[in-house]
Amino acid sequence: MFEKVKAEIELLNDIQIADKEALEKFRIEYIGTKGKLKDFFGGIKEVPNEQKKEYGLLVNGLKQKTENIYEQYKTQFETVTISAGNNLDLSKSADPLPLGSRHPIQLVKKEIVEIFTRIGYVMEEGPEIEDDWHNFTALNFPPDHPARDMQDTYFISEDKNALLRTHTSTVQVRVMQNQKPPIRSIMPGRVFRNETISARSHCFFHQIEGLYIDKGVSFADLKQTLLYFAKEMFGATKIRLRPSYFPFTEPSAEMDIWKGTETEADYRITKGTGWLEVLGCGMVDPNVLKNCGIDPEEYSGFAFGMGVDRMALLKYQIPDIRLLSENDVRFLKQFEAAI
Ligand code: DAH
Repeated sequence: MFEKVKAEIELLNDIQIADKEALEKFRIEYIGTKGKLKDFFGGIKEVPNEQKKEYGLLVNGLKQKTENIYEQYKTQFETVTISAGNNLDLSKSADPLPLGSRHPIQLVKKEIVEIFTRIGYVMEEGPEIEDDWHNFTALNFPPDHPARDMQDTYFISEDKNALLRTHTSTVQVRVMQNQKPPIRSIMPGRVFRNETISARSHCFFHQIEGLYIDKGVSFADLKQTLLYFAKEMFGATKIRLRPSYFPFTEPSAEMDIWKGTETEADYRITKGTGWLEVLGCGMVDPNVLKNCGIDPEEYSGFAFGMGVDRMALLKYQIPDIRLLSENDVRFLKQFEAAI
């Protein structure tokens, strides 16, 4: 028995296996259930007791050797198959990299900011924690204005001076304080209001503010700018401006875009009128210019402000505003394709 095993080991030292079929033959001959290794292991019965240990080691050595040979050729043939290009997709990523996605709020914000940067507006940002002056006083809010009430504003100091901004108009104030006209700014940001959370409203949401200050800016400029925006953003063919009131603009207006009532969705979102309210706007009140260090005798300007969340809901037909802040991956993954 010893001799036979030794002879096999000798033989394996010079073995050459040509291809996959030869390897399979080799496997059956040595490792398979009826293979030589099984016979050799069985042969231990015929070996005298005092030599059993030595024999066992020898057969184990043979087993190791055959297995090494098998594994070595197996990987060699597999590699050859791959490098020969069979079933190989060279365009595949080395890692399965999961794709991230932009948040629908960010998608809409980016779209709006880009529309305005194309006509020379510059993006500006301001702090979310503000003081009374930037949020209310500079913007011409009378001391007893209901918007200052606890109902709407999250005050964060006893004296009600520190608060979470209730609108992005605060950034207008900061820009006017820090820059000289001509000013063309587009100012996105998150705002906070003490409101009951429901499918339609949230205690924080997003706005985009616009501001244009120069010599001789008129209401006609405002109208043309908003018409351009409505065309770019919504493909709208016409807009209408309805008189409104904001403390910081005079005159003030609300802009509606024409959607029509042809599709069921348009009929629903315009409540059957064909018109959809999109933003608030107006000529910056001379008091506001003065408060921010700009001479209203020399300069005039317009401002506008719109809600981003509502636009995201409309654009992507999202039924509940809370989905925008719950970070549910199943919801967010649906925006993977959007850029
Ligand atoms: N700040 C207003 C709001 O939060 C929106 C707004 C209306 C901004 C008119 C403006 C504007 O700049 O001119 O409801």
